[in-house]
Amino acid sequence: MEKFTLVTGGTGYIGSHTSVALMEAGYQVVIVDNLVNSSKKILSRIEQITGSAPVFIEADLRDTSTIIEIFSDYPITSVVHFAGLKAVGESVEEPVKYYDNNLGSTLSLLDAMALSEVSTLVFSSSATVYSSSEIAPFDEAAELGPTNPYGMSKYFIEQILSDIALGDDEWSIGLLRYFNPIGAHPTGLIGEMPTGIPNNLVPYIMQVAFEKLEKLFIFGDDYETPDGTCIRDYIHVVDLARGHLAALQFLEDANGSHVWNLGTGKGSSVLELVKMVEEVVGKPIPREVVGRRSGDIPVVFADVEKALNELSWRAENTLMQMCVDHWNWQRQNPDGYQ
Ligand code: NAD
Ligand code: UD1
Repeated sequence: MEKFTLVTGGTGYIGSHTSVALMEAGYQVVIVDNLVNSSKKILSRIEQITGSAPVFIEADLRDTSTIIEIFSDYPITSVVHFAGLKAVGESVEEPVKYYDNNLGSTLSLLDAMALSEVSTLVFSSSATVYSSSEIAPFDEAAELGPTNPYGMSKYFIEQILSDIALGDDEWSIGLLRYFNPIGAHPTGLIGEMPTGIPNNLVPYIMQVAFEKLEKLFIFGDDYETPDGTCIRDYIHVVDLARGHLAALQFLEDANGSHVWNLGTGKGSSVLELVKMVEEVVGKPIPREVVGRRSGDIPVVFADVEKALNELSWRAENTLMQMCVDHWNWQRQNPDGYQ
């Protein structure tokens, strides 16, 4: 009998790349997504890459009866749970929306999983759960302390999932703390196209390079870092997708809850990234240094030993490759999936 993996949020940025990685490794994929931040058009792109289309069901995860139906319609044996809202600023303005969507989706999914006796789950967490008082590199045992509702929703979900694994040893759960995913599939067929003005650095720079936006605003160059700008651990989304596959394969033969950082272990500054993009696109990126963005930590990068030791996974793509693939995607799809 064929076995399926349910990918929630699978038409989104990381979910689509992970669906490709799973399908290429021989998994049958069922995607459930309410398309609040993605497009159905991505399905034919996934088919172009992998040679077959995943099953797609348009539904809100909070609609528990529909999710239960999905589990009874397909022989699902594992779940990779990406579905969620992720804009930090919006979460500060509309905390209830974030708690309702992110926690509500997860609780509904967990109900349906328990009813269907499916107990293998990979969850999208974030480096944002770490406390800002920690010093990089952050390992998985570092103190936690998110500072906004989005981060809190990830923190709460991590706690809920850990409690479930503690209470019932049938469960096998992976909490993946992503650092800064960028880049796109090397074919340029799938990638991230934020609606409106991007919040994050790389999508913003790419739109400046593409002359959709006039200039980059650098949020502070007076930090205690070598060039004064903040340092982050950028990871290629295809490496991140491979990390999910490695985690899922580990969990299929394990139980309990496990947490892994997914990053490269290397930090790059805002200015280093700008220079890299300039090299890739062959022209200067207009920019202006402005004040610090509130809540930004100067230096964030991962300790990646645990994922390497336990999952035999490490990120392979260079920052240059991340920028090349991101630019390639941006150029080929100026309006996203339109
Ligand atoms: P994304 O917005 O591209 O994908 C999330 C998907 O979930 C979207 O397709 C959206 O339509 C869907 N969704 C949201 N709420 C839903 C609901 N109630 N029911 C069904 N579908 C729903 O985001 P992404 O960058 O691919 O992120 C995936 C996950 O990884 C998110 O949980 C995010 O918080 C987490 N994460 C992302 C980053 C990042 O920088 N991209 C970093 C750390 C963690
Ligand atoms: C963001 C999220 C965080 C998430 C992380 C990984 C915010 C506020 N935080 O943080 O929750 O875990 O991504 O995906 O969205 N920068 C500029 N100009 C810009 C945009 C960014 O100078 O227009 C700077 C920022 O100040 C920061 C760096 O670039 O120093 C990276 O910013 P960003 O891409 O938003 O990532 P994080 O700050 O790590």
